[in-house]
Amino acid sequence: MSFPKNFLWGGATAANQIEGAYDVDGKGLSVTDITTAGSLNEPRYLTYKLNGKMEKAPAMPGAGLPKGAVGAIDPNAYYPNHVAIDFYHHYKEDIKMFAEMGFKTFRLSIAWTRIFPKGDEEKPNQKGLDFYRRVFEECKKYDIEPLVTISHYEDPLYLSEKYNDWQDRKMIDLYVKYATTLFKEYKGLVKYWLTFNEINTTLLMLNAFGNNVTDDATYQHAYQKLHYQFVASARAVKAAHEIDPNYVVGNMICGVVDYPLTSDPADVLATRHAMEKNIYYCGDVQCKGKYPTYAKRLWDEHNVHLDITEQDEKDLAEGTVDMYTFSYYMSNVITTHEVKDKVGGNFSAGAKNPYLKYSEWGRATDPTGLQYYLEVMYDRYDIPMMVVENGLGAVDKIADDGKIHDDYRIDYLRDHIEAMQKAIDDGVDLIGYTTWSCIDLVSAGTGQMSKRYGFIYVDRDDNGEGSLKRMPKDSFYWYKKVIASHGEDL
Ligand code: BG6
Repeated sequence: MSFPKNFLWGGATAANQIEGAYDVDGKGLSVTDITTAGSLNEPRYLTYKLNGKMEKAPAMPGAGLPKGAVGAIDPNAYYPNHVAIDFYHHYKEDIKMFAEMGFKTFRLSIAWTRIFPKGDEEKPNQKGLDFYRRVFEECKKYDIEPLVTISHYEDPLYLSEKYNDWQDRKMIDLYVKYATTLFKEYKGLVKYWLTFNEINTTLLMLNAFGNNVTDDATYQHAYQKLHYQFVASARAVKAAHEIDPNYVVGNMICGVVDYPLTSDPADVLATRHAMEKNIYYCGDVQCKGKYPTYAKRLWDEHNVHLDITEQDEKDLAEGTVDMYTFSYYMSNVITTHEVKDKVGGNFSAGAKNPYLKYSEWGRATDPTGLQYYLEVMYDRYDIPMMVVENGLGAVDKIADDGKIHDDYRIDYLRDHIEAMQKAIDDGVDLIGYTTWSCIDLVSAGTGQMSKRYGFIYVDRDDNGEGSLKRMPKDSFYWYKKVIASHGEDL
């Protein structure tokens, strides 16, 4: 069997990682706009003013600001997202290249701060609305279906500070107003929506990137933030269906498969508990419309008490998502035993898996894990699924013939496409696949340009130098062939 003929092949991006033009046409500052560049060994920093002094603190996507801080741009720092790959001014050229590859869908996110610059204005910013209209119309020209993430690590800075990173239920109304504005504005131009990118990273990051958070207050913050986001997501799903019954709205989970290191029952149980906390918790609420039985155990572990109203419970039940979407890069290994070799990447850290190869950035390449994940989750939720991120971050070199021969990327993607095919053969209703990414962009984790993910090379380096010229890599022509053959010619 092969992929369905109407399968949505494409690629994925996020506004803050491609658009640039961070202060153009009335756009307000987002949390990412005060995030500096980092590297493999150096974290990214959030810059802010505290008591009138410029300060910086290690940043992670989705993390809030320290108490009392006011986010600010340091004139002496470098912010890679400010220009990114300047999609804002290159979108026609880029979408044309996606069309040349035969894309059926293009995943992009909307910068909340282009639509509501501070986040709580009464009226949206017309120039921001117009920009995305132009982008969607360009997609339609080539029969490319936009797949739109409403929030991808780019909360308005003003709201993030005012409401302490989603610690106030007023955020729900503001998000729903923003989402509703989009649903009304782009009716007829967009069909597929995702409410929050990798919503579960709020929990995942507590034990990733060298973090080992144990204090109850941080857990209280994380679970409360998630609760408000679950309600915001559910109310957005309901609003979308009222505005256009054809809208298909998905959640988006950072999909990491956990394996036990040993057959010690304690490892097996710890693995299940890790999956519950890191992966199932968010998916269960968004797909089943209520908190799972194990939620109470997770809250009790950290003395968490949530503000949950009866209306919230009703909204959760009525606003379940139409499809389950997720990113997939790697698997992770859990153990209760002491291990010497620890590895980490993409919001997870654990023991090293002796059966897998690791990327320079610590991610285990594991296509079988993708098949496993698809089969487990489809069985659990029984709704259509999409893999909306999957790819290899690598350093690409321009060869003597002036081209980029990225066979390592082709190998990675081929193996994962084969894994998806097996899952489809096993009965999984997989409707789409958008690679991360389709064009080189700023890495969310490190802020690097040199950690490249695209089929299209962009001439820009880690210091912001380069012509921004676009060039197809070998993988560009390979993916074109894959799409044209409905996944048969790999
Ligand atoms: C996902 C994010 O976690 O992984 C993307 O949704 C991100 O925004 C992608 O870019 C790859 O991670 P990184 O850190 O290599 O950019």
